[in-house]
Amino acid sequence: MVKICCIGAGYVGGPTMAVIALKCPSIEVAVVDISISRITAWNSDQLPIYEPGLEEVVKQCRGRNLFFSTNVEKHISEADIIFVSVNTPTKTRGLGAGKAADLTYWESAARMIADVSKSNKIVVEKSTVPVKTAEAIEKILSHNSKGISYQILSNPEFLAEGTAIQDLLNPDRVLIGGRETPGGQKAIKALKDVYAHWVPEDRIISTNLWSAELSKLAANAFLAQRISSVNAMSALCEATGADVSEVSHAIGKDSRIGPKFLNASVGFGGSCFQKDILNLIYICECNGLPEVANYWKQVIKVNDYQKNRFVNRVVASMFNTVSGKKIAILGFAFKKDTGDTRETPAIDVCKGLLGDKASLSIYDPQVTGDQIQREISMNKFDWDHPVHLQPMSPTSVKQVNVVWDPYEATRDAHGICILTEWDEFKTLDYQRIFNNMQKPAFVFDGRNIVNIEKLREIGFIVYSIGKPLDPWLKDMPAIA
Ligand code: NAI
Repeated sequence: MVKICCIGAGYVGGPTMAVIALKCPSIEVAVVDISISRITAWNSDQLPIYEPGLEEVVKQCRGRNLFFSTNVEKHISEADIIFVSVNTPTKTRGLGAGKAADLTYWESAARMIADVSKSNKIVVEKSTVPVKTAEAIEKILSHNSKGISYQILSNPEFLAEGTAIQDLLNPDRVLIGGRETPGGQKAIKALKDVYAHWVPEDRIISTNLWSAELSKLAANAFLAQRISSVNAMSALCEATGADVSEVSHAIGKDSRIGPKFLNASVGFGGSCFQKDILNLIYICECNGLPEVANYWKQVIKVNDYQKNRFVNRVVASMFNTVSGKKIAILGFAFKKDTGDTRETPAIDVCKGLLGDKASLSIYDPQVTGDQIQREISMNKFDWDHPVHLQPMSPTSVKQVNVVWDPYEATRDAHGICILTEWDEFKTLDYQRIFNNMQKPAFVFDGRNIVNIEKLREIGFIVYSIGKPLDPWLKDMPAIA
């Protein structure tokens, strides 16, 4: 029986391994982590992450051929194939701080593999890593090999949070990079055989190691670039009276462009886009390509600009001050159908409003008060380090109140900011909300999900990104 071990039971390791276990009953899959609380949660009824369809898959396989464990050494030593799916945050200190990937967790996983292995292993990079990480890992393993042979493969993960299970069951492609040696090719074949249980062969692409590593960074950079491109257009639409949804629809009909990832919003978030682009920028700079680095930097700058622009719209519309005013924040996760708040634009928007002394009342169906307080009080880039390495009890921000009901959040509020596109926000009773708010009552829709006309009929002043401006907002400056 083939045995797989995955190091790192996070947003990637957990769902990916659950789907492998589901589709390959003949393979035993163990997911290990140094975080006891995470493993305990994976073994409980309350999984540590929210992902539609995940619970059903885990319940079907757990205890059969899917195991979650903190016994890292045992499972590594028994495995034929080891996936490494640990976090690869942006470095906060030292060389490349603020840009380069911090490979501390990766390196310690590699050293653990070298320490405990007694048989040949295929080591698969699942984490997103800088180009040539495989080479570094190879060096660590071969210098500590004790006669054991290691093959390193790069198998970057393209799942999107919120649709992870669907993405894993039906991937556009699976990418496997490996050495062009007979040993490398044999390892590629072994991993291909795992995916071939459910992925059509023409969707399994094999490349050299560096192409696979770079393709992951490039894919995220291209996706984020589309969001920044449409967000840049949204500012121009507001200035000219064009409607960004109409522009998106028109350009998306061009089959060379396509309709996806063309929604204007308050900005992209999530653990990957910014981190991976920063990583790409660092690689470009290290390779003497400052023009290329600057090109990608602009994608992040436009994202920051969009968040600032949103905050400025809110403050400017409300007589240039939100001091002491209650603002309801609907949605804190970086997108719908996930509880993940890493790098969510809500953090910067909330910080911006708090900077103008607003009092915030936040509601998100999947995010706890503790998590929100932690995000708002944490320094940039701290979030991607495991919770046990983060400050234990961040001082809770006094002007932030987290509630479990959207009507409670909006009661007596002066304005509402919609920051996540949760479906439930489309069908709220906005008349009831309006009746219980201070007047004039404002809605700032950062995800373009509300029916603007209906809300205006009720009496709201509405700002929607990239849409023709409410007369109220026309003379309000919103430049960052
Ligand atoms: P995560 O932070 O949710 O999970 C990583 C886990 O690794 C944590 O539970 C941590 O305790 C564990 N860990 C760290 N060092 C360890 C060690 N030495 N031994 C055992 N466990 C260890 O991170 P996530 O989101 O799953 O991301 C993992 C990687 O996948 C990152 O490189 C990320 O860039 C990449 N990725 C993430 C995607 C996402 O949507 N979240 C999508 C595609 C790739």
